[in-house]
Amino acid sequence: MSVPNIELNDGHSIPQLGFGVFQIDPGDTAPAVTHALEVGYRHIDTAEMYGNERGVGEGIRASGLDRGELYVTSKLNNGFHRPDDARRAFDRTLNELGFEYVDLFLIHWPLPMLYEGDFVTTWKTLEEFRQDGRARSIGVSNFQVEHLERLAAETDTVPAVNQIELHPYLLNHEVRAYDEEHGIATEAWSPIAKGQVLDDPVVTEIADRVGRTAAQVVLRWHIQRGNIVFPKSVTPERIRENFEIFDFELEPADIERITGLDRGEAGRTGPNPDKFAYVPS
Ligand SMILES: NC(=O)c1ccc[n+]([C@@H]2O[C@H](COP(=O)([O-])OP(=O)(O)OC[C@H]3O[C@@H](n4cnc5c(N)ncnc54)[C@H](OP(=O)(O)O)[C@@H]3O)[C@@H](O)[C@H]2O)c1
Repeated sequence: MSVPNIELNDGHSIPQLGFGVFQIDPGDTAPAVTHALEVGYRHIDTAEMYGNERGVGEGIRASGLDRGELYVTSKLNNGFHRPDDARRAFDRTLNELGFEYVDLFLIHWPLPMLYEGDFVTTWKTLEEFRQDGRARSIGVSNFQVEHLERLAAETDTVPAVNQIELHPYLLNHEVRAYDEEHGIATEAWSPIAKGQVLDDPVVTEIADRVGRTAAQVVLRWHIQRGNIVFPKSVTPERIRENFEIFDFELEPADIERITGLDRGEAGRTGPNPDKFAYVPS
């Protein structure tokens, strides 16, 4: 079963399916990552905020795979948007992972209510990491259209990706459309809405009919719509189940029915990026 690659606007490419490690305890992270790599995942999505970058590095090294075969993303935590803080935080991220580079480094949240709303300077600092080769690609997360427009007006680099909350209950249509028009790949976080969409009658009816699980149907819906996804699980059978989505296809009518589940803003499970101003202590 092979995972397609998505071409990014900077010439690199990213496996369309990865493994997310948000809310995996630091001590459980290495075995979960090693298991995911055994199953076949080659893309891991972590963040300084998750506190488990070290476990990600350990899990990768325990797998015996070459670093070059893997795609690793991490993210700048909210307390470190000022340039010198960002530089130190990026050094720490590489140190925790135990790698000389990450494939992708993201600004985790735009935080328009903090730092005088100046995520532009933060973005220019990430440009340095790309220029010195320690971040092969750079991107953003939770950026709204107006935030992307500011980067376009005030900087030279279009983000390679924008990682946003996106699942059948929150299509995040405007942001995704902006991404698409401007060559930014969209990554969908909480792709199964943390499990909330799995009992939806539309999803379960399709799953029963095509002989797949609800999670596989929703993940397949993302893949066919071109989203990059990295479902999280600590359950070995689910880690495998979430990977086995490349040997079937959904009919266009079923894709449309799942797309029709959108609840707009009411479907959001996480914070609204315009208002989110949390800095971990
Ligand atoms: N950039 C951001 O701000 C941001 C925010 C949130 C998430 N993310 C990224 O996106 C990744 C995924 O999002 P997420 O962790 O929030 O949510 P998710 O992947 O949509 O859902 C994870 C939840 O679903 C359960 N689950 C997984 N596979 C399942 C299956 N096949 N059947 C039934 N239940 C299943 C997991 O349970 P078990 O673990 O108990 O199996 C867990 O409770 C994160 O790990 C992180 O990398 C980024």
